[in-house]
Amino acid sequence: MPRRNVPTPTLVFEKSVPGRTGCNLPKADTPPVDLEAVLGETRADLVLPEISELDTVRHFTNLSQINYGIDTGFYPLGSCTMKYNPRINERTAQIPGFTHLHPMQPVETIQGALQILVGVQDILKEITGFDEICLQPVAGAHGEMTCLMLIKAYHEARGDAKRTVVLIPDSAHGTNPASAARCGYAVRSIPTDAEGVTDLGALEKALDDSVAGLMLTNPSTLGLFEPNIEAVCAMVHRAGGLVFCDGANMNAMVGTTRPGDHGFDCMHLNLHKTFSTPHGGGGPGCGAIGLKAHLAPFLPTPVVRKEGEAYVLDEDRPQSIGRVSPFFGQFLMEVRAYTYLMAYGRERMADISRYSVLNANYVMARLRDVLPPAHDRFCMHECVLTAKRYKQYGVRALDISKRLIDYGFHPPTNYFPLIVPEAMMIEPTETEGKDTLDRFCDAMIAICHEAETDPDLLHAAPISQIVGRLDETAAVKNLDVRWRA
Ligand SMILES: Cc1ncc(COP(=O)(O)O)c(C=O)c1O
Repeated sequence: MPRRNVPTPTLVFEKSVPGRTGCNLPKADTPPVDLEAVLGETRADLVLPEISELDTVRHFTNLSQINYGIDTGFYPLGSCTMKYNPRINERTAQIPGFTHLHPMQPVETIQGALQILVGVQDILKEITGFDEICLQPVAGAHGEMTCLMLIKAYHEARGDAKRTVVLIPDSAHGTNPASAARCGYAVRSIPTDAEGVTDLGALEKALDDSVAGLMLTNPSTLGLFEPNIEAVCAMVHRAGGLVFCDGANMNAMVGTTRPGDHGFDCMHLNLHKTFSTPHGGGGPGCGAIGLKAHLAPFLPTPVVRKEGEAYVLDEDRPQSIGRVSPFFGQFLMEVRAYTYLMAYGRERMADISRYSVLNANYVMARLRDVLPPAHDRFCMHECVLTAKRYKQYGVRALDISKRLIDYGFHPPTNYFPLIVPEAMMIEPTETEGKDTLDRFCDAMIAICHEAETDPDLLHAAPISQIVGRLDETAAVKNLDVRWRA
């Protein structure tokens, strides 16, 4: 068990020793160039490090080992679907025929690439139950915004200008209201009831002819399947609104059930979650969208489709909302997702949702005595637990999460959804085995015991890392990655 006396690793950046060199270049056989004369001004103050090859290799290898990633350990960050990204995805994304493409090439020279895009679109249509798929958006939030632009274009095309409000449940991800606001909509919040599902009475009251649509996450951010989903969609449609599905949680449904069959008009998917393409720093991702035929006239252009034997870029869409991305979105993400989809195949696709739901329920069952679920029923691909009982010892969910780092695990999501006090949201994904889940649950149980017996240990955590607790807001708002001597 990690204690306070664990030696903290240190990292020395100043490794330069005058006269050392890491390269062994052959004697120059060209005349020397006077850089000052060529470039005008050279920076004498830029002192380059003098360092051997071995020291350089060790420096960067050590740096890479400080980072925590899905390749180094379990990453149960709820709502983020941190599943393993299979290496074969990277192999195909590195095929020179893909990496050497130029987006301005004539369409007849990029037929293979367009075939991949149409292939991804076709499979996603089948998985989601929508009539059209567009791969242009480069993030989940971008997909949300694109869907709202479609909804807006739909109402405008019908001359229905009075719809200025978007309804969003209070459990929604923060990007939902941000996307609605970005599209010029006012947001009306819909409460979640005691069972953790959308409050139908409150929804009924909020529906009037000012409502453009409802943004609904299913399964919700509480990890619960919305049991009244068809009724919800029908209510919104009766009031003249459309229903958008935040499909960031599609991992719970792949191959099992389809949002297009539930009554939704459109949805976004996060290929960088569900379909195993890498996450990172707000991109590069793919927030692909699916939509029903009545929204198809407004699709972003160019629409990539097959015409006879050829793949074409269809720009002839007079009602289109236009481009939402340069060229075709993140093409190599689509190559990775296509590889993943083809590797699974239609027959095994449901394993994704079955095992992700099984794993989340296993973790919930093992932890329920120390961290009870926010809502006591089977969860979908993630479980939301509450650490509120440890407040009496002065311990918060954040302290438990930070201590988990000392046990060698990435923390789960904390304090989201906002409606659960001391929320800890755990999403194991289908790619983890029982042994990993057991080690994680053992660590969580041990930490909860420490919370009662030695709360200061948790307050000091993490004690095993090069840095302790960061000012996370400042790290986001005032990121400064420059190293100074
Ligand atoms: C439920 C939900 N919706 C939307 C998003 C936004 O996706 P992205 O981060 O790709 O913009 C997320 C991201 O975590 C999410 O969890």
